[in-house]
Amino acid sequence: MVIVSKLKKVFPDGTVALDGISLKVEEGQFTVLLGPSGAGKTTLLRSINGLVKPSNGDVTVDGIKVIDENYRKIRTLVGMVFQHFNLVGNLSVIKNVLSGSLGTHQKWWSNLFLFPKSYRIRALDLLDRVGLLDKAYNRADELSGGEQQRVGIARAMMQEPKVLLADEPVASVDPTNSSNILSLLRDLCKEKKVTVLCCLHQVDLALQFSDRIIGFTNGKLIFNDKTSNLNRDSLRQIYDETSVEGMFFGSDMKTPDISHIQWKE
Ligand SMILES: Nc1ncnc2c1ncn2[C@@H]1O[C@H](COP(=O)(O)OP(=O)(O)O)[C@@H](O)[C@H]1O
Ligand SMILES: [Mg+2]
Repeated sequence: MVIVSKLKKVFPDGTVALDGISLKVEEGQFTVLLGPSGAGKTTLLRSINGLVKPSNGDVTVDGIKVIDENYRKIRTLVGMVFQHFNLVGNLSVIKNVLSGSLGTHQKWWSNLFLFPKSYRIRALDLLDRVGLLDKAYNRADELSGGEQQRVGIARAMMQEPKVLLADEPVASVDPTNSSNILSLLRDLCKEKKVTVLCCLHQVDLALQFSDRIIGFTNGKLIFNDKTSNLNRDSLRQIYDETSVEGMFFGSDMKTPDISHIQWKE
């Protein structure tokens, strides 16, 4: 479980990225963070894995407070999936996945077979789960964007995290693959009871895959409820627009296109 309490982050230049956020994310839930660019989504995720130090308030993960002294422990509990995948391009796919296993020793990198057999089997099993077993020995940079993100997911799962943070995991992926990737991420996390916090720009994908939506603007919480309770008005508040509907949406646009969404009346 992730507990965020009165979290405030003011950057040295005076920018208030988070303005007293309190929330709880239940174990095993798939939560999507929505909000316009600059809302504070990335800062919130980085506060959960300890990369951003709060100005006020605190975060606990699985009962462990996110502070410097607990950094190693937090690293073992919290996995990451990145927008730009962050794979090592000139290494094989399987080595990239193995790099997710904690406690791997530097010397192992020279030879795949120095990794314990149980690790290699687990990495191959994860690659099978993400549909890339046949590419295990390809160089990572030979893969398409969608495939690289599936490797990124396998690498994160290799760590066996309790909590997985995903910052715009499909923003650099062909839109036709976005849904498959989120579906895979959701299935794997449900299966392994991993709690997910995922920032997305696409409201339709958030509605499709999340259990809960947390929406915020200017570092303030606007919406925090079951996904089925998100309606047009809450979305308008999140995106701070008088008319959310019918607007074009691209990954860098402020407002998503929700014109095709069927709302419950
Ligand atoms: N290292 C930093 N120094 C100063 N301001 C920052 C820094 N990181 C983020 N910000 C600012 O904090 C606010 C929230 O940013 P961010 O968390 O990246 O938002 P989002 O991910 O929702 O787009 C923005 O105004 C951004 O410019
Ligand atoms: Mg961001």
